[in-house]
Amino acid sequence: MEKKLNTSRRRFVVAASAATAAAFVPTRFAIGAKAPVKIGILLPYSGTYAMLGNSITNAMKMRIEQAGGKLGGRDIEYIGIDSEMSIPKAPINTKKLIGKEKVDFLVGPVHSGIAAAMAKIVGPRDTPIMIVPNAGHNGITGSLCAKNIFRTSFSNWQPAFPGGKVMADDGHKTCVTCAWKYGAGIQMMAAGKENFEKHGGTVIKDLQVPFPKVEFQAFLSEIAALKPDCVFAFFSGGGAIKFVKDYAAAGLKDKIALYGPGFLTEGVSRAQGEAADGIKTTLHYADNLDNAANKKFRADYIKAFGAKPGPNVFSVQGYDTGSLLLQVMEAVGGDTGATDDIIAALEGATISDSPRGVWKMSKNHNPIQDIYLRQAKGGDNLVLGMAHAQLEDPGAGCNL
Ligand code: BEZ
Repeated sequence: MEKKLNTSRRRFVVAASAATAAAFVPTRFAIGAKAPVKIGILLPYSGTYAMLGNSITNAMKMRIEQAGGKLGGRDIEYIGIDSEMSIPKAPINTKKLIGKEKVDFLVGPVHSGIAAAMAKIVGPRDTPIMIVPNAGHNGITGSLCAKNIFRTSFSNWQPAFPGGKVMADDGHKTCVTCAWKYGAGIQMMAAGKENFEKHGGTVIKDLQVPFPKVEFQAFLSEIAALKPDCVFAFFSGGGAIKFVKDYAAAGLKDKIALYGPGFLTEGVSRAQGEAADGIKTTLHYADNLDNAANKKFRADYIKAFGAKPGPNVFSVQGYDTGSLLLQVMEAVGGDTGATDDIIAALEGATISDSPRGVWKMSKNHNPIQDIYLRQAKGGDNLVLGMAHAQLEDPGAGCNL
């Protein structure tokens, strides 16, 4: 369903009208220079990942608005569609944004399965440029990689792999993984397991919960019966709130240490309350990162959108998507027709004012970035140290 994006308390510059654009002389760059840059957005605004989609959208627009609300001197038209986290609807939504709306940039999605469906349509084409502001599907910058697909977030492998070593370093020998049964959960659990076993641990069972179900009782009973030293889990958004609360309510919190990629407590630790306290996770962001860009970003975001859920990794990814768009459109003087130059600018990009710390684009079009060890406390995810500095995804199967 196409939606008017009403996700913020701020007002943002939206589109000059088609009539205005039609008034200009129809050479490619004459139109390109004057007409708005069209940004198609395919993100979830309903269901368990709604908070993620709203956080990304709010912060991307905030970043661009702070820089004057234009890209390469041109106004912007945002065309947003609620992905509804539906893989079957992903091809039609993607084709609508490309074919009917003729967007210059396609920003999305959150969900790994939707990312794969979109990449299969966008990858074989020359345009538009797709920028993934969350979905971690390893293949997007691996076997499905393409010259016009870039990511500002992470691969599923990246935040999960260091978690395996953290659990082993904490002295745990046995582990049960528990995650939603789809690309993100499967790939993150595999990465954590690989590194846990590399450091002497054993995963005794992989529990898989149908996505996006949140009936965790049977899985928690099985964990209690298996008695592992620790649990490594992937859930996010509304599902993560429920899992962490149910885990504590089942009496497991003080018996079996709970770990996971940072999504388990990210943007939701306030809602999880005391049930989240003490949970260690690994992620490319932490609330109290001590850098000027993070302090400014957090203050600005809270001022614009309030403290609930407040700034989080998803809004950081949206913010950095805005920074990247500003950077590359500046580099080409607003000429969206200069595809090769845009791709060159994206490939050479370093985001030096990111709240997560400096990161740069890898040759496979994925951030090379620090992964932090964090611990949830009093509603925040506080940094304990560096889990893996400047981690680059292996990008298996990508030959860019
Ligand atoms: C994913 O589907 O790739 C994903 C969704 C939420 C958080 C992290 C990853």
